[in-house]
Amino acid sequence: MRDFETKRLKGTGESPTVALNAKGIEMKEQGINVLSFAAGEPDFDTPEAVKEEAIRAIRDNQTHYTSAAGIAALRRRIAQKLREENGIETDEKSIIVTPGAKLALFQALMAFLEAGDECLVPTPAYPSYRSIICMAGATFVPVPLKIENGFRLTRRMLEERTTEKTKMLIFCNPCNPTGHVLSREEIDDIAAYAEAHEILVISDEIYEKLLYDGRVHYSLGAIPSIAQRVITLNGLSKSAAMTGWRIGYSAADPVLTKAMMKLQTNTVNCTAAFVQQAAIPAFDCHQETEAMRLSYLKRRDLICDGLNAIPGVFCPRAEGAFYAFFRIDFRGMSAEELADYILAEAGILVVPGTAFGEGGEKCIRLSFAADTAQLEEAVRRMGKIFS
Ligand SMILES: Cc1ncc(COP(=O)(O)O)c(C=O)c1O
Repeated sequence: MRDFETKRLKGTGESPTVALNAKGIEMKEQGINVLSFAAGEPDFDTPEAVKEEAIRAIRDNQTHYTSAAGIAALRRRIAQKLREENGIETDEKSIIVTPGAKLALFQALMAFLEAGDECLVPTPAYPSYRSIICMAGATFVPVPLKIENGFRLTRRMLEERTTEKTKMLIFCNPCNPTGHVLSREEIDDIAAYAEAHEILVISDEIYEKLLYDGRVHYSLGAIPSIAQRVITLNGLSKSAAMTGWRIGYSAADPVLTKAMMKLQTNTVNCTAAFVQQAAIPAFDCHQETEAMRLSYLKRRDLICDGLNAIPGVFCPRAEGAFYAFFRIDFRGMSAEELADYILAEAGILVVPGTAFGEGGEKCIRLSFAADTAQLEEAVRRMGKIFS
């Protein structure tokens, strides 16, 4: 057959974490005793109040198209949340409700990047950033961070990778995969940099509720000097365990929002009506979110303490999100070789650090949003194969 695939897609692959997760499911279905820690998914059920509201909304026939940007009550609730919790001065005209934050990400990158543009991405980073930048025809420019420096980002690192083609910067805070939470100083540095270079910034805050050891979340969009050029992305997948509902949102200046709406109206049209309605009470599920956070914290310590006791393993304590991102020095193996070795010898599915780009060499990502007994077993098995 003729090769129909476009050049812009050829430069990308399927999402490596989604593909690995599918591999784990397939292996389990074949009866293979595999412990899978590849997925980035809460292991909690969606709060009852959200489920009840969805059922009520379906019975109430909220099953039609809604206004494309989302139902007004939800957009108002999101804007209120952003003002009260994040200090972002916004209103419902600046919000687009999307089927998952991933679509908001797609819209923001597609709307503002094209061939000739460069987009800076501190790495290791969520793999879809690179893929979508590539789909937009733009150039992905990694800003590699170092595990031994706690994955800290400085203005100097950004300056070093900046050219006259640099149009955008995207980062995730707290970070998937590294677990780093940007300090006040790092956020101020990013703001000063973006202001000086007139750069558009995407701030992906999907893990904002999962912070440990007294860390504080700072939203870039709350800094007045840069607010107009910040697109804040978020959603309920992680904070309210709603991955399968597909619900996320963007908040941006109305001029930027108008451009992104061209993508929304010509693709999905809107997010499912009853899912939008059910999302409203999710913003008040503070107790459930806190219970999840405390549970992740216990599991973070279990996995970090266990892994750090293994010779050659360095596992920094995640400051946020629910991933352990650790380095293994073993027989000079690369990240891919390590992941293959762990699967073959210990029956454990993890993601090689290089799936997240530069800075992930010799590293592994393991999601600790998983069963405690399985995490203990994983530590035991890894202790055996790396000793
Ligand atoms: C960094 C980051 N951004 C965005 C998303 C997308 O989340 P969703 O589309 O489920 O809202 C994820 C999901 O894993 C993520 O880790």
